[in-house]
Amino acid sequence: MILAVIGKGGVGKTTVTSLLLRRLVESGETPVLAIDADPSSCLGTALGVAVERTLADMREELRENERPPSMSSAEWLALRAEEALVENPGFDLLTMGRPEGKGCYCYVNNLIRDHLDRLARSYRHVLLDCEAGLEHLSRRTSGRPDAIVCVVNRSRMAAETIRRSLDLFVSIHGELPRRVQLVLNQFDEGEPLAAQMTALAGGPFSGVVTIPRDPQVAALESAGESLLTLSSTSPAIAALGAWEVGL
Ligand SMILES: Nc1ncnc2c1ncn2[C@@H]1O[C@H](COP(=O)(O)OP(=O)(O)OP(=O)(O)O)[C@@H](O)[C@H]1O
Ligand SMILES: [Mg+2]
Repeated sequence: MILAVIGKGGVGKTTVTSLLLRRLVESGETPVLAIDADPSSCLGTALGVAVERTLADMREELRENERPPSMSSAEWLALRAEEALVENPGFDLLTMGRPEGKGCYCYVNNLIRDHLDRLARSYRHVLLDCEAGLEHLSRRTSGRPDAIVCVVNRSRMAAETIRRSLDLFVSIHGELPRRVQLVLNQFDEGEPLAAQMTALAGGPFSGVVTIPRDPQVAALESAGESLLTLSSTSPAIAALGAWEVGL
């Protein structure tokens, strides 16, 4: 399955991606390819994984034609992209890196997309930590997600971003995937505001999960420690525990 985690800036996408990853790895749903598709690239930090090379670095090198003449661009990319893949127990992390500069990137982006499509086939699940909209999903990264995980916080704009992103997805793909989950992040169960946000976000949602504000998440983030080390009694983990993740 390809799962895409989307939402407005700062709502908790990277946090939810990390929690989902932990859930998948713990339940033996491995191997997972975690892709940091947000140019501001924070997933590595949240997971405590050091990232030295990004796919954007390869893209620039490809554009500057640094490959030896004996290799095709696709061969070169397949070889070098390994360097951007950080292996961990149960999952690999791939960081997309900064957005394109000026000029035409169609050719290299097509190569990258083909490469990602091939790469994704060797994993059980692909988990994408996306930037706000869904635009780049159709453009840059592999295929169409089987599940969209929509994250909102208490901001009205966060819910409106989800509505717009889902509308955009339908205008590109004709329909939504069967699984469109809503995550109400930093809410308490049954709050009236949660119902308002759910209505504003549109949907239809195949499931809704509420994650409370979790002091352990905040503490790990401030200390720069991996969210994968969260204790299994943490409120955020407990909230996700009841969720079928749609698998
Ligand atoms: N349930 C939670 N409990 C406590 N803190 C949280 C929770 N969810 C998110 N946070 C904190 O809120 C901040 C923003 O979260 P996060 O980085 O996951 O958002 P994001 O949507 O990925 O942001 P960006 O758009 O910048 O990538 C972080 O400091 C994170 O630790
Ligand atoms: Mg993020």
